Amino acid sequence: MKPKILVTREVFDETLDYLAQHCEVEANQQDAAYGPDVLAQRLGDKDGMMCCLTDRVDAALLAACPRLKAVANIAVGYNNIDIAACTARGVMATNTPGVLDDSTADLAWALMLATARRITEVESHIRAGQWTGWRLKQWLGVDVHHATLGIIGMGRIGQVIARRAAGFDMKVIYSNRNRVAPEIERRLNAEYASREDLLARADFVVLQVPYSAETHHLIGAAELKTMKPTAILINSTRGGVVDDAALVEALKDGTIRGAGLDVFENEPRLNPGFLALKSVVLAPHIGSSTEATRRAMAMTAAQNLVTALSGGTPPNLLNAEANQKR
Ligand code: GLV
Repeated sequence: MKPKILVTREVFDETLDYLAQHCEVEANQQDAAYGPDVLAQRLGDKDGMMCCLTDRVDAALLAACPRLKAVANIAVGYNNIDIAACTARGVMATNTPGVLDDSTADLAWALMLATARRITEVESHIRAGQWTGWRLKQWLGVDVHHATLGIIGMGRIGQVIARRAAGFDMKVIYSNRNRVAPEIERRLNAEYASREDLLARADFVVLQVPYSAETHHLIGAAELKTMKPTAILINSTRGGVVDDAALVEALKDGTIRGAGLDVFENEPRLNPGFLALKSVVLAPHIGSSTEATRRAMAMTAAQNLVTALSGGTPPNLLNAEANQKR
């Protein structure tokens, strides 16, 4: 008998076709996120789940789904999943690292360039029919080239962001829980710095750490005060890494120059203070959202799930200990 699975949000046809070869699939192609009760009810008789960062997988949900053996997240970040609770119940959890590194790094760069050169602000001006002609001192931005790029979180995506900096002749500094290997530093021409030093020196601060209790409000009022008044902050990793209320205040009073944001606390109900600010460029959590990358992420998650449910070890298993519980 094929294992039964729930796909909690809309996915691509080829993802469903692949899953259907191996599983009995219930799919929410209507795409409205299920609340916890509906999710528990639909998952009650399932062996596997393919989910997204909008689904919360916690101890209460797992308790209601005794058959569940595997949870495949269509994302590299997995702060929506309680990994310890999964492990305790012998539920394998997987994510989709690697396939989205380049697209996510591109988006961080798009936010950097757009914020530095005020692209969304000037576009609104043109669309409103307010452009009256060229002026020497009009819409002055700041240079990205030859500036200092500070990357907080030098994992896979942080490294791809750093690699692109060579084309802009930038100085790259980074902070990370652990210093990366000397050959990586050499290849990326990146200098290790303490977070304090990085915040004080960088013209662009890009956050690329995963969200956890440890990184909650990593950047708050105190940290923003230590940045240059000309600095631009980019958050393309996870809401909650930045204290958004503190950032709104820092942008309002000129503590820093600007921010490019793809992620927010309480998505999609972001802090309304951002909407009134011209110095921010806003995007709706689209870091990995290119046609090719989202297809690759969905297929990676599907392959993780099928492997887990056929008794194998999925390539992107987050909790190897879960296997020992079974
Ligand atoms: C998207 O935010 C992801 O974690 O993949």
